[in-house]
Amino acid sequence: MKKHIVAGNWKMNKTATETDALIEELLEQDLDPNVEVIIAPTSIHLSQATQATNGSRISVAAQNMHQAESGAFTGEISASMLLGVGVQHVILGHSERRAYFGENDSLLAEKVQAALKNNLEVIFCFGEELSDRQQNKHFDLVESQLRNALFDLPAESWEHIVLAYEPVWAIGTGETASPEQAQEMHAFIRQLLVDQYGNDCAQSVSILYGGSVKPANAAEIFAKPDVDGGLIGGASLNATDFAAIVNGFKS
Ligand code: PGA
Repeated sequence: MKKHIVAGNWKMNKTATETDALIEELLEQDLDPNVEVIIAPTSIHLSQATQATNGSRISVAAQNMHQAESGAFTGEISASMLLGVGVQHVILGHSERRAYFGENDSLLAEKVQAALKNNLEVIFCFGEELSDRQQNKHFDLVESQLRNALFDLPAESWEHIVLAYEPVWAIGTGETASPEQAQEMHAFIRQLLVDQYGNDCAQSVSILYGGSVKPANAAEIFAKPDVDGGLIGGASLNATDFAAIVNGFKS
């Protein structure tokens, strides 16, 4: 069964003290019990975040991980290290990782496999740039991103994968895809899953939208039938805004 999920990607924001404070504020919020809530602080704060949220309904994601089990990869973090500090999910393929750190589809395929092998739940991000959309290539681009990184996986793996469609032109820009544009792409993605894995599998995968989601626009985006939640950047850094977005399914 696909779930409603709202995940906060904190990116490279918040010190240790601020991380504790934001989690404390989040724990005080009245959050829709039907929505799975995930936060992704920066890696150095994952351990304190899993401790602070222990026993609550908020779970913790990493923003990235390395594909190797261990070894001489200075500065990197493995799946088993994440598991060891209580992390349950990992965000992979975020457009900032692709743009600034050279992550491509084949590397991401390796990372996804390493995460799944270690029983981490994957939040897999993808989406087109503005120029792709202007040239009407956005469907082809999204299809190739999914096909190259994920479509070699067996159907069982999809129990542990959440998709996050994030058009690059909408990330951090204040410009959101319209609910219709989001629905159109999400329906396209769902159909790709139907064609590749069959209807049961396709209907069980949660497809999140990300890109300038705010309290003011969350409800109308989440009301679309193929939008199962959101990956939230900027607005996840404020507890009341994030809670309002989580509660966007109710309104
Ligand atoms: P934004 O970021 O909500 O600040 O646009 C979304 C994301 O990068 O996941």
